[in-house]
Amino acid sequence: MKIRRIFHSNDDGFFPESSSPELGTNMDKELLEKNANELVSPGRGILAADESNGTMSNRLESVGVEASSETRRAYRANLLSTEGYESSISGVILFDETIRQSMDNGTPIPEFLASRGVIPGIKVDTGAKDLAGRNGEKITEGLDGLRERCSEYFAMGARFAKWRAVIKIGDDIPSEACFSTNAHALARYSAICQEQGLVPIIEPEVLMAGDHTAERCYQVTAEILSRTFSECEIQGVHIPGALLKPNMIFAGVDCENQISREEVARMTVKCLNENVPSDLPGIVFLSGGQSDEDATAHLNLMNKMNVDHPWQLSYSYGRALQANALSEWALRNEQSDSSSRDAFSHRAKMNGLARSGDWDLSLES
Ligand code: G3H
Repeated sequence: MKIRRIFHSNDDGFFPESSSPELGTNMDKELLEKNANELVSPGRGILAADESNGTMSNRLESVGVEASSETRRAYRANLLSTEGYESSISGVILFDETIRQSMDNGTPIPEFLASRGVIPGIKVDTGAKDLAGRNGEKITEGLDGLRERCSEYFAMGARFAKWRAVIKIGDDIPSEACFSTNAHALARYSAICQEQGLVPIIEPEVLMAGDHTAERCYQVTAEILSRTFSECEIQGVHIPGALLKPNMIFAGVDCENQISREEVARMTVKCLNENVPSDLPGIVFLSGGQSDEDATAHLNLMNKMNVDHPWQLSYSYGRALQANALSEWALRNEQSDSSSRDAFSHRAKMNGLARSGDWDLSLES
């Protein structure tokens, strides 16, 4: 049976003075477990603010804001200066540009986060590229030079990382090539991160796009999860020092037979139970295009089940935590915008409540 160790943000260690582990040294299992558990501590989850420059620019432009390094910084600095979010946000995933930027007062962003008891994280993949000879399928790249980049990010204060694999469902896909290459890359990334002191968030995202049924999504999700954890075992990944960021189980957005929120929660938990090791400390879902309220309601239902899950069930939402905050910020496009911060604060609180099944629709007003 698994013994869970709970660590609190005021414990020392997740932002220690120590320098990066030497390249090639053995992993510090105790540090990895401590930070992994801290990231899924009760009532808290992760803010994914690691949109690439291209994606963040598109999001800013879609709400009428001119995109530049400075507008990306200003929007995120305003978001991260929100009062009190550390009670429901344990960590923030940053992009390479952002981890090198500062708050308005000049404090480096990772240092600012750590001072608030929030663990800085970093997206380390370099994006999903076309899988050779497989029309429309993707393989995530970024393994070249990853050890050196992880070492640099650790020295900058990062204590966890993210790598996203993208799995599309279609007539004859995903192919064996897509499953095997992405599972292998996720495990290689995880082993390198752990060697360098970063908790790996393992993200195999099965996309919602398409007209497939929920059963097909279940089947594909089960396959990529079991393949990924088998590869992790082969490559010596320390599971108690890692986190999983999966999709929930849905029918494709164009499928006529959508399933209820209760069924999403039931099928998702069943799929995870069958394919995820019980000594993993936590599962932090992606929102993947769900509405803010759906993302919160689904997580709430899973945590409300009368079941003692072996892992913490939490969130690592991007759009479902930021959509309203971004729209509000765009309305005024000012360096400091309290309406944008209020919108983020509200969603963070709602998801924090969903961690214990205590969210209710009436709280949304
Ligand atoms: O990799 C995906 C992001 O970190 C989470 O984004 O919640 O908008 O799907 P999302």
